[in-house]
Amino acid sequence: VVLVVDFGAQYAQLIARRVREARVYSEIVPSTMPVAEMLAKNPKAIILSGGPSSVYAEGAPRLDRALFEAGVPVFGMCYGFQLMAQTLGGTVDDNGAREYGRTPLHVSKVGSTLFEGTPAEQSVWMSHGDACSAAPEGFTVTASTDVVPVAAFENDEKKLYGVQYHPEVLHSTHGQQILEHFLYRGAGIEPNWTTHNVVEEQIALIREQVGTKRAICGLSGGVDSAVAAALVQKAIGSQLTCVYVDHGLMRKGETEQVEKDFVAATGVQLKVVDAQERFLTALAGVSDPETKRKIIGREFIRVFEQAQLEILQEDGPEVAFLVQGTLYPDVVESGGGTGTANIKSHHNVGGLPDDIEFELVEPLRKLFKDEVRMVGQELGLPEEIVQRQPFPGPGLGIRIVGEVTKDRLDLLREADAIAREELTAAGLDREIWQCPVVLLADVRSVGVQGDGRTYGPPIVLRPVSSEDAMTADWTRMPYDVLAKISTRITNEVPDVNRVVLDVTSKPPGTIEWE
Ligand code: XMP
Repeated sequence: VVLVVDFGAQYAQLIARRVREARVYSEIVPSTMPVAEMLAKNPKAIILSGGPSSVYAEGAPRLDRALFEAGVPVFGMCYGFQLMAQTLGGTVDDNGAREYGRTPLHVSKVGSTLFEGTPAEQSVWMSHGDACSAAPEGFTVTASTDVVPVAAFENDEKKLYGVQYHPEVLHSTHGQQILEHFLYRGAGIEPNWTTHNVVEEQIALIREQVGTKRAICGLSGGVDSAVAAALVQKAIGSQLTCVYVDHGLMRKGETEQVEKDFVAATGVQLKVVDAQERFLTALAGVSDPETKRKIIGREFIRVFEQAQLEILQEDGPEVAFLVQGTLYPDVVESGGGTGTANIKSHHNVGGLPDDIEFELVEPLRKLFKDEVRMVGQELGLPEEIVQRQPFPGPGLGIRIVGEVTKDRLDLLREADAIAREELTAAGLDREIWQCPVVLLADVRSVGVQGDGRTYGPPIVLRPVSSEDAMTADWTRMPYDVLAKISTRITNEVPDVNRVVLDVTSKPPGTIEWE
């Protein structure tokens, strides 16, 4: 394992991903972890991330010098670089030598371990206040900028390396190459970590954890739960039962995708609960978005728990495990605990007996989203499941502005299916993060269709580009694709005489309309 020591801000996750892209397994540890504990993990190398502090700030994170004396190769980036310089006796000044953003880097030692084979002039991403003016003894300065004399250094004998900039961001043009040079040349690591190994390793771990007992897993139709279920199925076969609640708010073909394609690809034992009537009844007369969301969430849990209860009552070994598709970013963001969580499935409704506790099986908790997709591919899941765009849990229920009825759902399902079909045909699925299709059910506008006047609700297209859904921009997609979608929806979906495009970024708008 390569440890990425997290000095705060958002850098560590990105570095850990880049290391894995170099096919080397990495894990993130907090900078407060004692060095002895880090070394006990037998790391093949350690990377010190950037962070928001100044090494001079009071309470700024520090590092025990022992880390540099353990014989483990270390690569410091930005704050990690300055900390390394300061700890080992170099000079870091708080002299106003700031640099932010794209910066030209002058490589003075092109044949060095890190810079071998990269150009003497390259563009790097800087973000720092303090600057290193003298490298520690035994180090060779390998690069500078117009502002800082020491922008990179290395001590090949001790296997210690550092750069002032952020090689992990794409704006640093040779960043990935430099990181790989550290891993392969500096630390002598073989790049052999693949999702294939992950699958093999997880299957063994799941078998060991579950033994002869049974497990259950809720399927949402999303990527994470599907991949987690497929992995567990591969490990324990018929000891796993999946539950899928069809609330009638799914898009066209989605339930069939789970029922047929997913089962065909995995052979999983699936319990489908048809709860459409129940959800429609509960949603009748409700237009307020938050109320809709609460009703859908509540009904979902009730139905799901009822299904669990039925499985618990079936003959067979004890049902002791609940499979969840938790991902690595969730784990890191919630403090990165390593123990096995024990949850009690009590949502104070529905009513599982009080004494039932599930132990969690979370086979994806060390993986990033793109790696989960690769695992899904490795497991032979259909492309339509593995490459799915995000879709909200409350489904089409929050894409009908106004009351949710069966007719409106059917209408929206048709319009959505057309939009998805055309976006796929135009090859836009990867470029577009997601494209909600929204029915403004209570708005009507006048149209002329065939020989007559019509009066019907508009459909909104909301294509957005995003990296994490926290912020988004509307996708400037080709007019001819928009035209095709518009023509088809107004021709093929009864009542709809108008299609409009949402051209709002997030913020101020959210991605969904409700
Ligand atoms: P907003 O509308 O808040 O959406 O900009 C951000 C992202 O979250 C998705 N979303 C949900 N996902 N349950 C989910 O699993 C929900 O209740 C939910 N609401 C919004 C949305 O599709 C977008 O990707």
